[in-house]
Amino acid sequence: MALRSNAGEGEDGAVNSNARGREESLCIAMETKGAGFMKMWGYKDRFGVIGNGARRAGQNGKTVLVTGATSGIGLAMAREFASRGCHLVLSASRERPLRKVAARLEREFPFSVIAVICQNLAEDGGGIGLYEKVSDRNITVDVLVNNAGFGLVGEEISLSLVRERDMIGVNIAAVTELTHLFLRDMCQRGEGKILNVASVGAFQPGPYTGAYYATKAYVANYSRALRVEAKKYGVQVSVLCPGTTRTAFFDKAGSAVPIWAMSARKVAKAAFRGLEKNREMIVPGAGNKLLRLLPQRVKLQGVAMLKR
Ligand SMILES: NC(=O)c1ccc[n+]([C@@H]2O[C@H](COP(=O)([O-])OP(=O)(O)OC[C@H]3O[C@@H](n4cnc5c(N)ncnc54)[C@H](OP(=O)(O)O)[C@@H]3O)[C@@H](O)[C@H]2O)c1
Repeated sequence: MALRSNAGEGEDGAVNSNARGREESLCIAMETKGAGFMKMWGYKDRFGVIGNGARRAGQNGKTVLVTGATSGIGLAMAREFASRGCHLVLSASRERPLRKVAARLEREFPFSVIAVICQNLAEDGGGIGLYEKVSDRNITVDVLVNNAGFGLVGEEISLSLVRERDMIGVNIAAVTELTHLFLRDMCQRGEGKILNVASVGAFQPGPYTGAYYATKAYVANYSRALRVEAKKYGVQVSVLCPGTTRTAFFDKAGSAVPIWAMSARKVAKAAFRGLEKNREMIVPGAGNKLLRLLPQRVKLQGVAMLKR
């Protein structure tokens, strides 16, 4: 099984322009070299045991699409699902890190990665684009993890409006597009799970990170509402609200990682458990759960002090 660029092999080979000035992204696909080869190594089918057979129970054989899979919580989630025998469809905006992560996961969990798809979710219709690329490959997504996202910290008037629009594109527009389209398919099939990644920031306004917290409040409320609608179709919608987590997030947001940050691995484990238990809202860590109970005024002042 080799990771190969699809350049020149149809529409997936089209070059994406990356609005954030990053390296040009070729859409790439990692496809199996044939079912016969897979069967030789114990692969059965989408719902059977794959790879080394030494996987733990839970979601075994399901196909999981993880957005923002190159680092932090997304990578930890991908690893968690792979360790349970799931098939992974990995997505992010930058090709090279995505290739590296896919190769690493393949070494750790042979035959776990079935597709690697580059998509800049900040683009207009970025979520629709990703959905179409997944559909073009005839992949049925059993579990969608809408994890890709980023934050901006600083006084509102000092922030770049272009970056704010990008953030709303990734954190809100793309999450809505992907949730809408995959939810529709899942409802038709009468099964499926969607895990949207919000934040404890969803529970209150966040001075000096106002737009970011507001995007996460949207994700949390949107997910909780859809959960009610989706139940009758046999589809589960859950929302993950991590607290401070040690990832590249802070670097990108232009702030330091607080010392009390949780590891992405712990967050991913809590997320997986919560999803298995069909929790509406998953808040990893006792401290973060307690935080939720503090009065709004106290939380508002606390965030203002931390982010200023
Ligand atoms: N870290 C925290 O303290 C914390 C707390 C609460 C919630 N969260 C949420 O958790 C999620 C994951 O964040 P993280 O902490 O793991 O940060 P991270 O390590 O920076 O990971 C972010 C992921 O999102 C992807 N991404 C960013 N912009 C994208 C775009 N335009 N198009 C497609 N993919 C994009 C990145 O891939 P590329 O770089 O290739 O684009 C990367 O894989 C986010 O939704 C974040 O808001 C984080």
